[in-house]
Amino acid sequence: MTGKPSDSNAAWGGRFAGGPAEIMQRINVSIDFDRRLYAQDIAGSLAHAAMLVKQGILTAEDGEAIARGLEQIHGEIDAGNFTFRREHEDIHMNVEQRLAELIGPAAGRLHTARSRNDQVATDFRLWVRDTIDRLDGEMKALQEALLARAEEHAETIMPGFTHLQVAQPVTFGHHLLAYVEMIGRDRGRLADCRARLNECPLGSAALAGTSFPIDREATATKLGFARPTANSLDAVSDRDFAIEFLAAASLTGVHLSRLAEEIIIWCSEPYRFIRLSDAFTTGSSIMPQKRNPDAAELVRAKTGRLTGGLVGLLTVIKGLPLAYAKDMQEDKEPTFEAADTLELCLAATTGMVLDMKPDTMAMRRVAASGFSTATDLADWLVRVLGLPFRQAHHVTGTLVKLAETKGVDLADLSLGDMQGVEPKIVAGIFDVLTVESSVRSRTSFGGTAPDLVRASVAAARKRFL
Ligand code: ARG
Repeated sequence: MTGKPSDSNAAWGGRFAGGPAEIMQRINVSIDFDRRLYAQDIAGSLAHAAMLVKQGILTAEDGEAIARGLEQIHGEIDAGNFTFRREHEDIHMNVEQRLAELIGPAAGRLHTARSRNDQVATDFRLWVRDTIDRLDGEMKALQEALLARAEEHAETIMPGFTHLQVAQPVTFGHHLLAYVEMIGRDRGRLADCRARLNECPLGSAALAGTSFPIDREATATKLGFARPTANSLDAVSDRDFAIEFLAAASLTGVHLSRLAEEIIIWCSEPYRFIRLSDAFTTGSSIMPQKRNPDAAELVRAKTGRLTGGLVGLLTVIKGLPLAYAKDMQEDKEPTFEAADTLELCLAATTGMVLDMKPDTMAMRRVAASGFSTATDLADWLVRVLGLPFRQAHHVTGTLVKLAETKGVDLADLSLGDMQGVEPKIVAGIFDVLTVESSVRSRTSFGGTAPDLVRASVAAARKRFL
């Protein structure tokens, strides 16, 4: 399986007599995936060429020919007229070879004072940066959708759960706002990652810098970077920015998977809290009555690709000696896949959030079950009778047991029943036993009261949109 050697590589083949074995080419070639870096690669080359001209390293004439050629290549790739060739290995050499076809030997001057090592590090940083900016917009769109639904359901009562057991009534709007906060932090993590990665490796060359009088500030500024990277070895050999991106993407995926799981639970027959339309469900080929929340299930599952990519790239970089090694070519596919996956999951989640139709009666019914206002009763005993909370908890427990034996809710116990347990109880206690009064009373900052939810929606719009 060694294959027939082909001609030696045009870009680095000077010292090679034969070409690579077919299997060597197969394991080495990255053009099938790194073609996605073409816009960033061309932008980097344009900045580099302009700087070389300004520094007198390249003639203005060559610089113009290079720029014109690169613009044309950009157009060809955009239009789908470009032939990517596997024998040119990667995006960098595909662009350069085409440039040589277009402008002749001057193309060979573009690579002065740079290496593919700083080139790819620059391209990839630019790509991750562009991707973060796009994802941020999509995360914002999800927050917008959640906020619209939260506002609409500021008063809608649902059961709040702990241990997936009915705990206390909350509002549906409040529940949705929890995800607005999570996505807000996810956006913050991506913004942090963006700020840290925004340094330009260009000019680090292969690993040691270059002897040409280049201006690294100029290329950094032109490409929108905050500054050039400070150490050439570090610049060509770390991919922590991609790992950070994958970590932030993974965490976002984990958050989306929790919402997806809740959507799945809420759609299920025993809950029936929400209904998704035909737009976000599928049928069963054997059970005609089924309406399955496949989109939510896939969002839940696709998180695996994100965390898988993160662990994969951590493992690639672990133990790599400085500086560049070809191992690093393995940084791109997990990063591309994570970006695509997250983009898809965000769009699907936003779609489901806008699509879901809550069954407010079903939610309220469950919210009122399971003695969910027992805490309100205990709080009343503390507030009105001055009982210590621990004693109030005990009294409430006895009342819950009594209601349970009688097969009724707390609100259905008579005043006499109550006074049998705690003689000082008066009729006012019944005011706190409805789910409505319960949520209305939760007015501490960050609490579930409908008025607070409305205020939180307004505040969140200011903070996030
Ligand atoms: N395709 C390579 C990568 O993605 C580009 C850098 C190649 N550098 C080298 N010294 N072979 O990492």
